[in-house]
Amino acid sequence: MNSDSRTTFKSKIGIIMAAVGSAVGLGNIWRFPYEAGQNGGGAFLLIYLLCVLVMGIPTLLAEMTLGRMAKTNSVEAFRRVSKHPVFSRIGYLGVLSCLLILGFYTVVAGWTFQYMWESVSGDIVGGTTEQFAQSFVDFSTSPFQPLFWTLLMLVFTHLIIIGGVQKGIERASKLMMPLLFVLLVVLCVNSLMLDGAREGLLFLFKPDFSAIDSGVVLSAMGQAFFSLSLGAGVMITYASYFEKEVNMPRTATTVALLDTSVALLAGIVIFPAVFTFGIQPTQGPNLVFVTLPNIFAQLPWGSVWSFIFFLLLALASITSLISLHQVVTAYVEEEFRVSNRKAALIVTCAAGVLTVFASLSLGVLNDLRVGGMCLFDLLDFVTAKIMMPVGSLLLCVFMGWRLEKSALLNELTNYGTLRWRWAKVFVVVLKYVVPILVTLIFVNELGVFKF
Ligand code: TRP
Repeated sequence: MNSDSRTTFKSKIGIIMAAVGSAVGLGNIWRFPYEAGQNGGGAFLLIYLLCVLVMGIPTLLAEMTLGRMAKTNSVEAFRRVSKHPVFSRIGYLGVLSCLLILGFYTVVAGWTFQYMWESVSGDIVGGTTEQFAQSFVDFSTSPFQPLFWTLLMLVFTHLIIIGGVQKGIERASKLMMPLLFVLLVVLCVNSLMLDGAREGLLFLFKPDFSAIDSGVVLSAMGQAFFSLSLGAGVMITYASYFEKEVNMPRTATTVALLDTSVALLAGIVIFPAVFTFGIQPTQGPNLVFVTLPNIFAQLPWGSVWSFIFFLLLALASITSLISLHQVVTAYVEEEFRVSNRKAALIVTCAAGVLTVFASLSLGVLNDLRVGGMCLFDLLDFVTAKIMMPVGSLLLCVFMGWRLEKSALLNELTNYGTLRWRWAKVFVVVLKYVVPILVTLIFVNELGVFKF
């Protein structure tokens, strides 16, 4: 595709919303609470926030700058800006990450459909904590039902992708994101009135510094990159559709702020309930799916609330899935010069195979383990804790060291029409801070030395 003829996002709000649509999703509502629960609550939150500020926002901005500069898919973008054989390959890592994330993300997105269904069929209200926990385990480990929802989710994503960038993505995100936000605020108020509110808030907001170890730091960093959709080329691909007037520093900050607020809101909804209903905060990926039904069960019109919530969560997941799919599809389309439809179909089939195995790995294939993890956990671990940080590190090194500084600053400031106070700090952060921090966190986790 010729770079001038790429579709651009229609409106300014559409631009922000599409990026927010990618960032906000299961990462905020499902993954953030479970990671926070497993990693000591307040301590995790503190490091997470630091990671978003120091590494997340700069990396997000770096991706946007590269995307708008290159105006092409995330693999070609690196090539177009640098002829260096090593740097020109960074993009492949991102495409691979997106495909692997699709593998487990679609499965969890499918679960939201099941919970929507259960809200209507009445199963979600009227049980006890143990019953909710048991029914989640029964469902997620069974072979067929989760697969059905997962594949349905994938088909939806596929249809939106072939419907075109502007119409599909923009319309969906503009409408649904604000609604999800409002509903979360309402649920927050409700959770704050529960008996366990104090305990839940203390858990989430009071850092216990003795709980911080290398695992907590790695998890918080991984969550920051994952939640902002970084290190995988998503924002490069999206920004390639940006118009040249977009104020990127402001857009990146807004996206990060909204994304972080959604995660915080989710935490405020979940943790008071966790302590009220006697749920273990450390139980991992099950956490949200056991806690939420308890919350809805004590609300008047519980099944209606539940239905709306899972509907919005499903839609938030779809906008993230679209972004993941779009990265791989744009790459296949432009690299192999096939039609959008064909590229999308290839990606959907590849993702389909992965999701089937990831879903089954929680049940019948659970004994198939690598490093003690089943495929589902492995995909989650490898992408969030290794591939996204490495991708982000390489991107920052590339933008900071390889790209001409004047080219970087020109693009960032819309060729001097925009004044941005932090530009110099930004360059230093790209060149030194992100690469050094990511490396230190990795080395620390390997146990070579301890902080
Ligand atoms: N950020 C999304 C979420 O929090 C998930 C996601 C979408 C993602 N695209 C990504 C994660 C690219 C990493 C890379 O739900």
